[in-house]
Amino acid sequence: MDTLYNKRIIVGISGSIAAYKSAELTRRLRDAGADVRVVMTRSAMEFITPLTLQALSGRAVHTELMDADAEAAMGHIELARWADLILIAPASADFIARLSGGHANDLLSAICLASQTQLAIAPAMNQAMWDNAATQANIATLKQREVSILGPAQGSQACGETGPGRMLEPEQLLKICNNLFQSGLMSGQHVLITAGPTREPIDPVRYISNRSSGKMGFAIAEAAIEAGADVTLIAGPVQLDTPERVTRVDVETASQMQQAVLKHAGACDIFIATAAVADYRPGLQAVNKIKKQADEMQLKLVKTHDILAAVAALAKAPFTVGFAAETDKLLEYARSKMERKNLNMIVANPVGPTRGFDQDTNELDILWPNGHIHLDLNSKKTLARKLITIIAERAHAIDTTENTG
Ligand code: CTP
Repeated sequence: MDTLYNKRIIVGISGSIAAYKSAELTRRLRDAGADVRVVMTRSAMEFITPLTLQALSGRAVHTELMDADAEAAMGHIELARWADLILIAPASADFIARLSGGHANDLLSAICLASQTQLAIAPAMNQAMWDNAATQANIATLKQREVSILGPAQGSQACGETGPGRMLEPEQLLKICNNLFQSGLMSGQHVLITAGPTREPIDPVRYISNRSSGKMGFAIAEAAIEAGADVTLIAGPVQLDTPERVTRVDVETASQMQQAVLKHAGACDIFIATAAVADYRPGLQAVNKIKKQADEMQLKLVKTHDILAAVAALAKAPFTVGFAAETDKLLEYARSKMERKNLNMIVANPVGPTRGFDQDTNELDILWPNGHIHLDLNSKKTLARKLITIIAERAHAIDTTENTG
């Protein structure tokens, strides 16, 4: 199964003779369904032309930090947030040194510094340069920062020497990239997720709803699949494709969502309620279209059932995670919601006219009874992966306490 489908990958190319292999790598990543943007350093362009990479990636190649046009199209900070993975292949000795030193004087290193996404490098250099204590110290620093070091391979080198320093072949890199997205943290777990808005009908043609796009819930479903879980996604009306291997159940109203959730909740280990469920629905649904008459009209609304609280109250409740979208007093409201609904965890996110709903980025505060982690503004996909890691760890910690306590 290809986990690279729809993944946003920056292929960073630095100055090494192995840069020619990046052309094949880019082609293969695209064949696997990834959305690839290529960023080249100046010295990379001595080895391979941006035009080649543009043709293979299907997108303009990014090369300059101080290029007003390129920055206007997609600035380096935006690029840094866009990516699900940054893969530097080849990573030259000099680029590795700049990366470990935290430099930002060229586009590629600036993107790496600005990004919080997964970073992987495929070193390529002369074997003596690789063995040099300076390079090894830089590699140790990068490992400490959780950068994935892919290779290098042993063998004959372009300079005529033999030893470690050859860049891994595109095929090997592709395989490793696939694995980078597969953590196995939730292997064998059943995860139930709600996503999107609900629609509460007023009459046959009108309804009450909200601006939720479902993007966060769908990204979480995909991240849970990558973590090895079996995922059932109960989706309100959204315009999104179903992530591969996810079992999707479409619903419209809060009441339909509740029925679908309760049907699956007994068999799940983790429940994540990202849906923006309507808190109120029209008391009565008119059979025929309501005609306009008086200048004012009253609509009587009645409360919907709280699906999340119902799941948390089950005798054999799964590890239950709620979401709190708030315009103000984010942490205070979120924590009280967690306590009121008896949740294991709550994910607070700020919403407003320009953030949260229908955006590709967000920032999150993840709260549990005696802990809190803040995740900075990032793509919903990257946030989803980080969130799934935290949920898996917390759920595991509770399991372990219960089994030993
Ligand atoms: N939720 C639910 N069923 C409902 C309403 C909400 O499962 N009928 C879930 C949402 O999926 C989300 C969390 O509860 O995980 C949100 O809590 P809620 O108290 O509804 O927050 P708001 O809708 O923001 O309402 P308010 O802040 O007004 O309490």
